[in-house]
Amino acid sequence: MTKLADHLAECIRLDGPMPISRFMAMALGHPRWGYYISRDPFGRAGDFITAPEISQMFGELIGLWCAERWQALGAPNPFVLAELGPGRGTLMADALRAGAALPSFGQAAQVHLVETSPVLRAAQKTALGDRPIYWHDHIADLPPGPAITIANEFFDALPIRQFQRGADGWHERMVGCEDGRLCLLLDPAVTPTSPLAAAIERASNGAIVEVSSARTDVMRALAQNLVSHGGAALIVDYGHGESAAGDTLQAMQAHKFVDILAAPGTADLTAHVDFQALGEAAHQAGARTFGPVTQTAFLNQLGIATRAGSLQQNATPAQAEAVRAALHRLTDRDQMGQLFKVMAVTTAGSDRPPGFAEA
Ligand SMILES: C[S@@+](CC[C@H](N)C(=O)[O-])C[C@H]1O[C@@H](n2cnc3c(N)ncnc32)[C@H](O)[C@@H]1O
Repeated sequence: MTKLADHLAECIRLDGPMPISRFMAMALGHPRWGYYISRDPFGRAGDFITAPEISQMFGELIGLWCAERWQALGAPNPFVLAELGPGRGTLMADALRAGAALPSFGQAAQVHLVETSPVLRAAQKTALGDRPIYWHDHIADLPPGPAITIANEFFDALPIRQFQRGADGWHERMVGCEDGRLCLLLDPAVTPTSPLAAAIERASNGAIVEVSSARTDVMRALAQNLVSHGGAALIVDYGHGESAAGDTLQAMQAHKFVDILAAPGTADLTAHVDFQALGEAAHQAGARTFGPVTQTAFLNQLGIATRAGSLQQNATPAQAEAVRAALHRLTDRDQMGQLFKVMAVTTAGSDRPPGFAEA
């Protein structure tokens, strides 16, 4: 048992079983033993690797996307360039470097990072050098104003609740404790169906559905600012375009899937993103969405093959092979290309952003 598992078991002994959302929030963000609070989990020696850590091409293309959207907004100066969950700061560093192709973009950008991990805030400071950076714990703390916001693998880390259909209705899946070990069980009380999307009401007996007010709250806040002050957002994550039943909660340690309850606080814990639910939250706030499209389609339309070619031109054979392997990893359908989706959020009257051309 980890220290956090002991603490969770004590909480459950005192208060009874807890929703998965509380378990997930504590496993990732407990101020002392939370996964993200105490470590840098990226890379070969860590637990997982993300697209910007695979290749500079990812952040560079997103930087050019941001610069194009900034021009489409009428080049506001200053404007907020925000990133939610920026990890090591690699994506933002690559994006700013590529965006400097338009010098006034870099000068107008005020960089705001929404990040709860002190360890990763330190890494972001190192990655971004002398530039002034503003950190925030919550999206609600971002200053109002025109904003371009990016989020890669952020929403998957926000807590979800799970419900399972029984003969008598929906029951919430809870984390309990039996014989000193954490376990999953069903709340005997029937849940009112209101938190569940209409599309999954038809789910069969035994089906599990996931909902996340943490995610839709973030999306609503993002969309409200954008509708009031202008802006655009780009969301990249693994997930599905339409709400569907399924248990997608997963834990990862040292690049392998592990039991979600086995070692809370020492394994990454995520669930697939329901882009339909995110889109609906954005629409309710009056924003428009494009996509989701697959990461393959998005990066191909933005010209990743051309960028790979130019990097390879001045490369050693080993470097050229690394660029080829990164391109494959980011865009191949069997790698990140199909599972990862990209959605843009814009104001109602916005034109179609790059990367979202109709098929
Ligand atoms: C999977 S990492 C993605 C990092 C980065 N975007 C990348 O692509 O490499 C998730 C990031 O979100 C941050 N994070 C997780 N939960 C958060 C929360 N509730 N509020 C703010 N940041 C959070 C983590 O500390 C980390 O920086």
